[in-house]
Amino acid sequence: MDDENQKTGTVIAVQGPVVDVKFSSSEDIAGIYENINAYTVDGKKIVLEVAEYLPGNIARCIAVNSTFNLQRNSPAYPTGEPIKVPAGESLYGRIINAWGEPIDQKGDIDCSEKFPIRKPRAGVHFQRDSQGAHKFEILETGIKIIDLLSPMVKGTKTGILGGAALGKSILTLEIIHNVVKKYRGACVFVGAGERIREGNELYFELSRREIISKTILIFGQMNESPGARFEVAKSGVTVAESIQRKNQDVLLFVDNIFRFLQAGAEISSLLGRIPSETGYQPTLVSEASEFHERIRSSSAGGGSITSVEAVYIPADDLTDPAVVTIFSFLDSVMVLSRQRVQLGLYPAIDPLLSSSANLDTDVVGSRHFETAGKVLRILQRYEELRRLVMVIGIDELSGGDRIIYERARKLQNFLTQPFFVAEAYTGKQGEYVTIEQTLDGCEKIIAGHFDRRPEGDFYLIGKA
Ligand SMILES: Nc1ncnc2c1ncn2[C@@H]1O[C@H](COP(=O)(O)OP(=O)(O)OP(=O)(O)O)[C@@H](O)[C@H]1O
Ligand SMILES: [Mg+2]
Repeated sequence: MDDENQKTGTVIAVQGPVVDVKFSSSEDIAGIYENINAYTVDGKKIVLEVAEYLPGNIARCIAVNSTFNLQRNSPAYPTGEPIKVPAGESLYGRIINAWGEPIDQKGDIDCSEKFPIRKPRAGVHFQRDSQGAHKFEILETGIKIIDLLSPMVKGTKTGILGGAALGKSILTLEIIHNVVKKYRGACVFVGAGERIREGNELYFELSRREIISKTILIFGQMNESPGARFEVAKSGVTVAESIQRKNQDVLLFVDNIFRFLQAGAEISSLLGRIPSETGYQPTLVSEASEFHERIRSSSAGGGSITSVEAVYIPADDLTDPAVVTIFSFLDSVMVLSRQRVQLGLYPAIDPLLSSSANLDTDVVGSRHFETAGKVLRILQRYEELRRLVMVIGIDELSGGDRIIYERARKLQNFLTQPFFVAEAYTGKQGEYVTIEQTLDGCEKIIAGHFDRRPEGDFYLIGKA
């Protein structure tokens, strides 16, 4: 224990993840968000972060790892600095936990630099300046419905919103699979509060596809304390920033950002704070914004951070306050729908509920913009006709409506796709479709080139 010469405190209470540490005087007490280390009877390090002060020179801390076997009256050693995570080349291909220690049994991480996971608030940065000097760089995903309706632009944030088991994780994985391989930059994956086995599967999937060497994995999964599930998102964005600082572009994937805010709510109630009317922590918006404002292009001309965040929607309720909060920070929102899953339409992105600021003529060009607009209009009309058909039957539709109805169904099928990472579920080989091919297919369907072909021909295919 190298931190012995610091001003030591004493553990006076342990209540699950909340640990109170007493100091002899107010000068000795550790600062807010300072990292204090304590040790269990069997020598395991417990990483604590100061959350607030209590009368009597007591620092109330949140433990990021399990406090099992931590005893009262044990010494606690303030480190004089916040929790830090390592940075640099040696991190690639490795798996670390929320406080930067390796968990892949591949030995220590040899790194010269470490960065604090909490950061003072940055100033305001504008990405789209008035002279229009900003260049938009589109990252093609090869997934038709995403490239067409929610194109991924470097330096922006995309959310994949969906209730339980609608395909958020698979869609995230497919994007990693398609983008990271041809991407020049690095990839950081943050596993926050989801199933433990998913980390394992992801590691082997990435190794098999030979993209693990550009990837850094950081986990604070559902078996871990709320402290770990909360800090892991910050650690992830810190690692991404450290790569950005070296003028490299970074893709940051988070599965699941909702769990980060949920862990924040748990910590808030553990600290005895009164929730807001919505039942969430009073600091909900500031926690979400502190995280999201760190994801951006560097104003100093360095690399960019592009994020793809899976967002769990409790009980399929899009008006959940945490979901609405996350929503407000995203540039593109893809909403997965249960109805589409029931129809087997994967990826289950609902085009009419989803929206994207990147779908703009300045970004995608006029041909793409117009085609996307036409697709959306025809799908909107289909929704109305579908209801009508349920009541009166398809034969009662007018000739013009019937043509729109049938073309819309072909479009709907065309926007499904076999995924590389879902081959086990669909029994079909994955397909990568370029944006050119997607636009071409949609335009031909809308123009009636395929009117004689059955709609089944367009289901789970690649290009038309
Ligand atoms: N593109 C796809 N093609 C075929 N099947 C899919 C696809 N996406 C999802 N599925 C099916 O849906 C199931 C759930 O997918 P996934 O684990 O990605 O959902 P999730 O939204 O991440 O769920 P959770 O909320 O539990 O994390 C998969 O096991 C698979 O059977
Ligand atoms: Mg999932």
